[in-house]
Amino acid sequence: MKPSPAAAGVDGGATASPINDGPPRNTAGAGGPGGRGTAPGHPDDAAGPIIELSGVSYRYPGQKRDAVNRLDLSLGAGQALGLVGESGSGKSTSLAIMAGLIRDLRNGHVRFEGAPLTLRSPARRRYFRRRVQVVFQDPYNSLDPRQRIGAALAEPLIALGLEPSREGRRSRCAAMLAAVGLEPAMAERWPHEFSGGQRQRITIARALLTEPRALLADEPVSALDQATKVELVDLLRTIAAQRGLALVMVSHDLAVVAELCSHLIVMARGRVVEAGATGQVLGHPRQTYTRDLIAAVPRLPVEND
Ligand SMILES: Nc1ncnc2c1ncn2[C@@H]1O[C@H](COP(=O)(O)OP(=O)(O)OP(=O)(O)O)[C@@H](O)[C@H]1O
Ligand SMILES: [Mg+2]
Repeated sequence: MKPSPAAAGVDGGATASPINDGPPRNTAGAGGPGGRGTAPGHPDDAAGPIIELSGVSYRYPGQKRDAVNRLDLSLGAGQALGLVGESGSGKSTSLAIMAGLIRDLRNGHVRFEGAPLTLRSPARRRYFRRRVQVVFQDPYNSLDPRQRIGAALAEPLIALGLEPSREGRRSRCAAMLAAVGLEPAMAERWPHEFSGGQRQRITIARALLTEPRALLADEPVSALDQATKVELVDLLRTIAAQRGLALVMVSHDLAVVAELCSHLIVMARGRVVEAGATGQVLGHPRQTYTRDLIAAVPRLPVEND
């Protein structure tokens, strides 16, 4: 895989992006178990990018500088991109733009599955809400304490009209709980009965129930202890590979993104400082900023199997 230039854009087409220069390293190695070639339900993996940003800039109202400045990226099925950088560098804002939560851009374009992300028609909005799911950091706030897990899981199925039958919803939710390593019977329980790691599994299950093409995760494991973090990273890697998801992972923790992501974008003050294949960026950082970032983070324990 060739190294990509920092802030490589989509100007010359999707193949010029930092994410599209070959098969991903970790998440979906071609031919490997659970790899991209085995992803069920996504026969159009070979098609173009799922998410594309070109020249995207955004400034929060009243601010003096752009929170995100001229961001280019392109991400296909089965690929995983890490967004890293110091606090305030624009990672969450970039994710919110990809998630369609921020749309009044100063410049640039966002495309989803090749089409502009305008979301003007209700049908298009519904489709986008179904196919792009977001997982946030705080598994305590992302579940309503007054709602049993089964009801929380069923909510998007009801809201998006994906499963009209109560029994159908129940069985889909049970299967999804099992898929994220939980007991189907846990659907009867309340959020306070779960640990942070279990709650994050539940929020991942809820995100997966709508059969997304893209999963956008903002510090999904940052609130968890080290052992739970490793388990969740494993889970995310497995489900992203099995389902051929385009995965975007925001993290302070370079060790986490190194485990999960084939490509990295390093951000500072809203700009891309460095981008490319994860091994390249972390192994041969060209910028002092990236080197400092690498020096500053703890590492995940290395597995020796
Ligand atoms: N709602 C907001 N209103 C105004 N400015 C904001 C808002 N949210 C973020 N910002 C500013 O935009 C810039 C980018 O913030 P962002 O939250 O995207 O950074 P981040 O990289 O996710 O940081 P962290 O690692 O701390 O989560 C920062 O300067 C921040 O202060
Ligand atoms: Mg953030």
